[in-house]
Amino acid sequence: MSIRILSTSALVGPYVEQLGLDFPELVVAPYRSAAWESALLQAQALIVLLSEPLTEKDLEQCPDLRVIGTYSVGINHLPGAYCKSRGILIVNTPGVLTDATADLALALLLALTRRISEGETLVRSGNWKGWEPDLLLGSSLAGETCGILGSGPIGLAFARRVFAIGMKIVFWDRAGTHDMVTARGGIVDEDAAIDLLHDNKIGGFGLDVYDNEPDIRTRWYTAPRTVLLPHLGSATRQTRENMSRMLCDGVRNILLNH
Ligand code: GLV
Repeated sequence: MSIRILSTSALVGPYVEQLGLDFPELVVAPYRSAAWESALLQAQALIVLLSEPLTEKDLEQCPDLRVIGTYSVGINHLPGAYCKSRGILIVNTPGVLTDATADLALALLLALTRRISEGETLVRSGNWKGWEPDLLLGSSLAGETCGILGSGPIGLAFARRVFAIGMKIVFWDRAGTHDMVTARGGIVDEDAAIDLLHDNKIGGFGLDVYDNEPDIRTRWYTAPRTVLLPHLGSATRQTRENMSRMLCDGVRNILLNH
């Protein structure tokens, strides 16, 4: 029987297209389009983005499903326990996005402490009156302490970067951490963070990942001292191509060898 792969996107780079050479029944159809819904029924492999959750109900419609590839390191949009119970393997993209994500975390830190967004906005507004001794003063980082929640590969890569600019580093690890004030979407208690910003209890907040993207809390738009990015952690061309290659190799390998 020929093997059907259903991908919601061509991803970045040539790798999905190349999968199609090995598996000519590859279908690329937008997530939840009519074409996607109908191809789902015969899929043996699914490829989705992190913004495209799959439910148990979706997977119940695919009796032949063997593997799900997600174009992300995070897998919290997939029903992991259900996949395990059916022997459906999950392929994700750890490792290849570590440096890009750590770079972006550093960019957020610098943007906040050096008030980059405010400076840009001032220049573009045409209201900049020239150099002033106290214009948009930020905070120096050398000698300060950087707290990092989680000492996994991205936490360590970020630590190397802040160490290079002279910061001291403190790690915090705790299994099952949730609703805290720092770190990734779902881990941050976003309402608490916004309250603390308004109460001047924290100096600033940089975000790249949120609850319920892209419908983020509108309170973020007016929260003071924030830098808000649209989930760009892995968004370099090289990284996204590496993620595609890793994902497609993983899916191919499972289809051919498991
Ligand atoms: C990004 O958030 C990812 O999980 O790849």
